[in-house]
Amino acid sequence: MSGKVLVVGGGGRCHAIVDALSRSPRVSKIYSAPGNGGISAQAEIVPVPVSDVEALLKFAKEEGIDLTIVGPEASLALGIVDAFRKEGLRIFGPTKAAARIESSKEYAKDLMARHNIPTAAYRTFDNFDEALAYVKAGPIPVVIKYDGLAAGKGVVVALTLKEAEDALRDMLLDETFGKGRVVIEEFLDGPEFSFMCLVNGGKVYPLAIARDHKRAYDHDMGPNTGGMGAYSPVPFVTDEIRQTALDTILQPVADAMVEEGVPFTGVLYGGLILHNGTPKVIEFNARFGDPETEVVLPRLASDFYELIDAAVDGRDFTPEWRPESVLGVVIAAEGYPGKYEKGHALRGLENISSPVYHMGTVVREGEVLNAGGRVLMVLGEGKTLAEARKEAYKAVGKVEGNGFFHRSDIGAREA
Ligand code: AMP
Ligand code: GLY
Repeated sequence: MSGKVLVVGGGGRCHAIVDALSRSPRVSKIYSAPGNGGISAQAEIVPVPVSDVEALLKFAKEEGIDLTIVGPEASLALGIVDAFRKEGLRIFGPTKAAARIESSKEYAKDLMARHNIPTAAYRTFDNFDEALAYVKAGPIPVVIKYDGLAAGKGVVVALTLKEAEDALRDMLLDETFGKGRVVIEEFLDGPEFSFMCLVNGGKVYPLAIARDHKRAYDHDMGPNTGGMGAYSPVPFVTDEIRQTALDTILQPVADAMVEEGVPFTGVLYGGLILHNGTPKVIEFNARFGDPETEVVLPRLASDFYELIDAAVDGRDFTPEWRPESVLGVVIAAEGYPGKYEKGHALRGLENISSPVYHMGTVVREGEVLNAGGRVLMVLGEGKTLAEARKEAYKAVGKVEGNGFFHRSDIGAREA
């Protein structure tokens, strides 16, 4: 049986999902809402924003969509999965209640505490004086997280007491972020990695490990971003570490959510850190990672539609992976993650033979223009990480355009 699939989203992650689906003989047609300039070559664009759950539901019903895959957290937090299921439509993603594992840091930390999942010690505060007293009594660096969705901007790793105090002031007194509530966490030192698993209740289907680069500039300098590059697999994450992460973190969290009456369905993304040889949780996301998905899915040897289909039904399925390394470099607009200009042209893409995933583009009269801060993810593949890295940067060198920048050290530490 083949099916019509709707992919909700318009970034690089959704382009990678659409690309993986397009390789499946079981997919008859792909739609993407709202898609982007690159996705339009492989899927029919549905001009509906990811936040318009009602319009997406109406489209899925009218078009007879067999399966909907949700990319962005915004749609999940609005309850798109609950709305589709209520109408009997098949959809891959967590319910609004289960998505709290990402949208509320406090919920995630409390769940981990109740079930002894390894993570940084923490306390939650809504009072500035109490929070400051707690920080003053503890070690520095300290990590301060705004409790709520803040698009990756609500985390401050404070290296001095002054930085910690400023962050607390911002989050609890100035109402910069809205209703003030913070989680104050022990600082964990170690390399980070991303472990995404498809989950249906207690059933967990692990994906390949990836590593993101969150800071804007080389040598991990500059502000935090949505991610400036990634690679998979990650050499320092041995099979043994991966298994430990599965056995002590991902599987127990899936089981805990079943036990507590909020079974998770969809992608459970563990943002993990290897602290003194032990994997511990930095954060959970309730969706495919971006840009991790762009380097993980090209390595999938199994049929992606079959994998998602099995996960939606809770059937057994073991995804197979190609041994090759894939590394991706993000081309971003100058100024990102702050203010940046839109409408700058990107040329030379036709000279690149490896995949180029569009993150924020429009195509106007055959010309690719940037419509977002993160614009393209350019991939390279090789037998080793070093080879993938070389290929990726060779491809990056073929992109022409003014007003863009990229990191030149993606994967450099391990390649
Ligand atoms: P988050 O949004 O929770 O992933 O935090 C963003 C980034 O802050 C992470 O990718 C880490 O680099 C850093 N971070 C967050 N929590 C901690 C922690 N407890 N210890 C060390 N670094 C952290
Ligand atoms: N790459 C980090 C994220 O998807 O949140």
